[in-house]
Amino acid sequence: MHFFFLTCGLVAIISATCVKAQGYPSQSSPFFLRLNSTDPEIDGSVIMPVHAGSIRKHLAFAQVSIPDDRDRFFLNTSDTSEIDGVKTGILVWNLPRREPMNGLDHDSMSMKMYQIPVSNIATTSLTLGAGDSARIGFDSDNKLFYVWEYSLNDGTIPLDQIGRQRFFYQWQVCTTYHDLYIYTDLAWNTGGEPTNPSCRPVNVTREF
Ligand SMILES: *[C@@H]1O[C@H](CO)[C@@H](O)[C@H](O)[C@H]1NC(C)=O
Ligand SMILES: *[C@@H]1O[C@H](CO)[C@@H](O)[C@H](O)[C@H]1NC(C)=O
Ligand SMILES: *[C@@H]1O[C@H](CO)[C@@H](O)[C@H](O)[C@H]1NC(C)=O
Repeated sequence: MHFFFLTCGLVAIISATCVKAQGYPSQSSPFFLRLNSTDPEIDGSVIMPVHAGSIRKHLAFAQVSIPDDRDRFFLNTSDTSEIDGVKTGILVWNLPRREPMNGLDHDSMSMKMYQIPVSNIATTSLTLGAGDSARIGFDSDNKLFYVWEYSLNDGTIPLDQIGRQRFFYQWQVCTTYHDLYIYTDLAWNTGGEPTNPSCRPVNVTREF
């Protein structure tokens, strides 16, 4: 019986979150992602999806200034996703298919973030579908931002601001290990001095 109630509670919590979850069916024109940094080795480089298993890609830092056609991304939005007139949505990339299916020559992947409790660096990757995607957008300078809302955890934020959505710019380029491979990837600093000393703060700009 206890288990039953617990499950219901969990379902209630999950469905409350699900009400907020929505699809992002409108797609922007394609663009490249270029990094801006005070580190000259990173400044001007592009972000490139690299293989990390058949259905996972990493957003790797590529020390090239001229991107390849396959490094094109999209912003998928919905009619209702905007903050102060700026459209928000998810970062999308098309994984090419060997054989077209249902008339599509690709599968749509989107950016997710992964964090563990003992690091303040969240890693990013591209996986299939829109579920659990990072909410993002581009400001009037075409800079990539992350959307989050002030929560009770923020402590010093006035109570009337709680739940207000804001843009955040805490992108990093960090060297991380995934299984036995080493990647230098786009990552996110959740706050404070990065626990990973290889991280460099960056901004990510879209270029049509
Ligand atoms: C990065 O930003 C700085 C300061 O705004 C600017 O001077 C520099 O040209 C930018 N680099 C690129 C590649 O956009
Ligand atoms: C993004 O939008 C395109 C065009 O509507 C759609 O085909 C694709 O499935 C969407 N991607 C995701 C991850 O929702
Ligand atoms: C990124 O852009 C934001 C918003 O313009 C700015 O506040 C921040 O200092 C920039 N960060 C870096 C690393 O250039």
